Amino acid sequence: MTNAPLDRRTLLRAAGLTTGATLATIAAAGPAGSAAVAASPAFRHGVASGDPLPGGILLWTRVTPTEEAQPGSGAGPEVEVTWQVAADPDFASVVRDGVVTTGPLRDHTVKVDVDGLAPGTTYWYRFGLRQDWSPTGRTMTAPAPDAAVDRVRVGVVSCANWEAGYFAAYRHLAARGDLNLVLHLGDYLYEYGTGEFDAGGTVVRAVRPAHEVLTLADYRIRHAHYKTDPDLRALHAAVPWVITWDDHEVANDQWAGGAENHTPATEGSFAARLAAARQAYAEWMPVRLGAGGSIYRRVRFGRLAELSMLDLRTYRSVQASGTAVDDPARTITGDDQMSWLKQGLVSSTARWKLVGNPVMISRLDVGTLPAWLLGPLGKLLGIPANGFAVNTDQWDGYNADRDELVDHLRAAGTKDVVFLTGDIHTSWANELVTRATGPGAPAAAEFVVPSVTSDNVDDFLGTSPGGPLSVLAAGIVRAANPHVRWTELDGHGYGVLDVTTQRCRMDWYHLADRTRADTAARWVAAWSVGTGSSKIRRESPPA
Ligand SMILES: [Fe+2]
Repeated sequence: MTNAPLDRRTLLRAAGLTTGATLATIAAAGPAGSAAVAASPAFRHGVASGDPLPGGILLWTRVTPTEEAQPGSGAGPEVEVTWQVAADPDFASVVRDGVVTTGPLRDHTVKVDVDGLAPGTTYWYRFGLRQDWSPTGRTMTAPAPDAAVDRVRVGVVSCANWEAGYFAAYRHLAARGDLNLVLHLGDYLYEYGTGEFDAGGTVVRAVRPAHEVLTLADYRIRHAHYKTDPDLRALHAAVPWVITWDDHEVANDQWAGGAENHTPATEGSFAARLAAARQAYAEWMPVRLGAGGSIYRRVRFGRLAELSMLDLRTYRSVQASGTAVDDPARTITGDDQMSWLKQGLVSSTARWKLVGNPVMISRLDVGTLPAWLLGPLGKLLGIPANGFAVNTDQWDGYNADRDELVDHLRAAGTKDVVFLTGDIHTSWANELVTRATGPGAPAAAEFVVPSVTSDNVDDFLGTSPGGPLSVLAAGIVRAANPHVRWTELDGHGYGVLDVTTQRCRMDWYHLADRTRADTAARWVAAWSVGTGSSKIRRESPPA
């Protein structure tokens, strides 16, 4: 252990590593091996990659060089960490390597933006600290922008509440072996204290810290606690992620200047809390943030698909109700992001324009629902018990922005737009319609994935999954919203998006029991949209 910065050669010598050939020899006998998710003492929070570019990838880890260097402690020495990217899992062919410094100022997290790689290529990576190797991660660069890509397959997830159960959805996705990417649509973690948001009233496993997170140290500890989950670590190590935040990475129902779950009188300034949450997020997540910490960005997969990741929290107007939802001065995207989104979608040369969309864009009319359903649905959607017709935290609360975007797509004749959505904890296949489109000519498709664990309708109703009340509720929702072609209100799990030149298909998988770490997942439905039309159709189970 040393506080003095080491030069690269000293560091490699300290690890017994001085040449590429030696590195390969050590790798074959070293601790990394094929134990992709084992937690070594120095690397107990795993490894991750994200935001693939045609020649680059972002790599992440966190080191614990001494026991005092606990997450959020601000303690521990500054250390140098080696990193390697190889063309093979045994690191016989290291193609890029380097050394970076980390320390308590960044909570001992490490982020390396690697360039100089080949497009569309699988790589393995790891980090070294003294005698320790990290677990080995596997990642992929994006294809060249003009490459003819036949297929992209993406695991799609959102809303992972620690206290509501186990992240079996991540385990099942990690085991597939056929994914190019994981798309995380937000609520990667929740801010609540223990017992404030659990599994329908039962804490399946206690979160750390035990209190609601508020300070920089709190957010760091919460991020670190999530990354002790073996299933989460396995999925990060298996495949690159592209992630955006929703509200709970800061606080419930966040908007530009506050949040429902933030009380300035007792919790201090929202700006300070937001800065703390954002700093911890930047440190702990494998994401390439832009100028000023912006997160909306694009990832492209050759000529096949381009993914626009949205930020629907940082710039939005405060949630409103009644006719205020039609106020054109209110925004969910902010002006700059809206211009970027419109321009990017209509000018994209990719076949599929995918949108990583944290909250549902399709209209959801709940005004005709009976009280017994409006209660639990309202709890899920954040609607007061005596009822408003819309969930004003999703695009329904920002009608002018939705109309502006849809009108722009229609005026430009832009087709093959698919919204990929989380937040609502339930499964939906929608056609995006507005007053201008009418029901017959949707502007886009929308596929919504359920929560990894967070409560949904049966949990709030206190009934069994798939019970008659939930089935009835789904039927009533569909009757009031014909553009909702399918919904299921009880399942927790994940989606698998399969994109080809002909069609874009989502398969939904639900867990048998979110409260069991070893729970099985089963296929429940698939819907697809073909090129040139935004009408969606039901698909058969996968072969
Ligand atoms: Fe959520």
